[in-house]
This record gives sequence, structure tokens and C-alpha cells, in this order.
Amino acid sequence: MTAHPVGLPDPDAGPRHVALIMDGNGRWAEARALPRAMGHREGVQALKRTVQAAPDFGIECLTVFGFSTENWRRPAEEVSDLMGLVRSYVASDLNRLEREGVRVRVLGRRTGLPADIAAIVERAERTTAHNSRFLLQVAFNYGGRADIVDAAQRYVDQLLAGQATGPLDEAALGAGLSTAGGPPVDLIVRTSGEQRLSNFLLWEAAYAELVYQNVLWPDYGAEALGDAVRQFRQRDRRFGAIAARPVLAAG
Ligand code: FPP
Repeated sequence: MTAHPVGLPDPDAGPRHVALIMDGNGRWAEARALPRAMGHREGVQALKRTVQAAPDFGIECLTVFGFSTENWRRPAEEVSDLMGLVRSYVASDLNRLEREGVRVRVLGRRTGLPADIAAIVERAERTTAHNSRFLLQVAFNYGGRADIVDAAQRYVDQLLAGQATGPLDEAALGAGLSTAGGPPVDLIVRTSGEQRLSNFLLWEAAYAELVYQNVLWPDYGAEALGDAVRQFRQRDRRFGAIAARPVLAAG
């Protein structure tokens, strides 16, 4: 990598793994008197721009919140629009992602997904499984609490089958999460100005930095991502320890 776009001296300063809550599609559309579906469609374009830009900032993994376990409460037409976007995104972009070395992984519950979406998800993962240049994790039918419950249930099943012995610890529970094996989450970004996690990556957020940006998701791209990375690099990450500060002479 040559000149680093963020203009900061240390390209190894991270973040390696950025998680994005892509919020504001509806407001973007409403501000233009367009149907909400148009906001989601533009949201897919923003996602493509962001995935394209991420490696230039030294990012190795992006995790995006595509559809939550709570999003089923939206009107049936909007749910169906979102499912349609997944179909068209995979149909139009899977080959390119595969060629560019992107591994796609889908987080969340497979049960409850329409059968064709479950098959598309499975195909996207299988086709890109050998890639290692970049990891794109799409949280779909995902909820942070549900993921922790599922991990606990997996552990109980292993115990009952005699494949695990107690006591349960963080490593054993973490191994059952849908993010297991991926890099730790360094930065969680939420767009649109809302400031909450909305059941996204609850376990993984433990030591992540949080950045809230006042941009609506369909307007997102390299510039906004660069701004989030810059904010991350100004943070003092201590992981519960004491900061390394220069020692000042007394008196
Ligand atoms: C939030 O905007 C966004 C979503 C609920 C879905 C995000 C989905 C996409 C960007 C496209 C589809 C995803 C993939 C993986 C192809 P909102 O509708 O809550 O916006 P609002 O808060 O302004 O109403």
C-alpha cells in the first residue's frame, strides 16, 4: 500500500474489522418523496462502494447488518423488497466478489428464511469459501441475543452428547457464535445519527469502538468510511487496562 487515504502515519493502526449498521434508507427515500424500497436499493449501491473501498483503509473484514430478527415486523411488502435485494445482489455480484478474493459469510438463523434465500446464502458461502483476501459478513435474520442463546444451546447439546465438559467459559461460548473464527470487531459504525446497537453483535461489541455518523446509509462510501477510520485511530483503546501515558517530571 502506498499513500494511505486516511493520511495517518500507521497503516497497521486498524481497524481490521469494521461492523456497519446501515441505517437511514427509509429517511433517504422519504426526503425525496420516493418509496422506501428505493432507499434500500440505493443502500445496496452504498454497500458495494463501501466493500470496494474498505481494503484501501487496511480493513480486512466488514460485517453489515442486512436484516434483523426484528425486521420481520415491517410490512410484508418491505420484507419482500429486502429479500429481493439479496437475490439481485448475489445474482449480480457473487462472481465479482469471488474473483476479487472476497469470502462471504452469512451470520444469523437459517431457519425461517425463505427456501430460495437459504439456498442463495449457502451458494454464496460455498462459492467463496476458499477466498482469504477479504471477509464480508452479512448479518441476515440475525439478532445478537438470539446468537448468544443459540451458542449456549450448542454448548448444552455438546455437554449432553458428552462432547464437552464444564464449566462453560467465554472461549467455549464464543466458539458457538455465528462470528466464531473471524477477527475481533474493532469498530462499530451506525449511520443516520441514531445512537444504539439495536441487538447487533452484542457479545462482540464488548471492546469495540463505537462511531455514530450523521450520514444516511444510501450516501455512504469511501469518504464516510475514511472519516470513521480516522475517528477510530484517534481513540485510546485500553481493553480495561491503564493507558500508556508519557511520564511527566514532578514539580
Ligand atoms: C435500515 O434503514 C436498513 C435496513 C433495515 C436494511 C439494510 C439493507 C440494505 C442496505 C440492502 C439489502 C442488504 C443486502 C445484504 C443486500 P431503515 O429502513 O431502517 O431506514 P429508516 O430508519 O430511515 O427508516
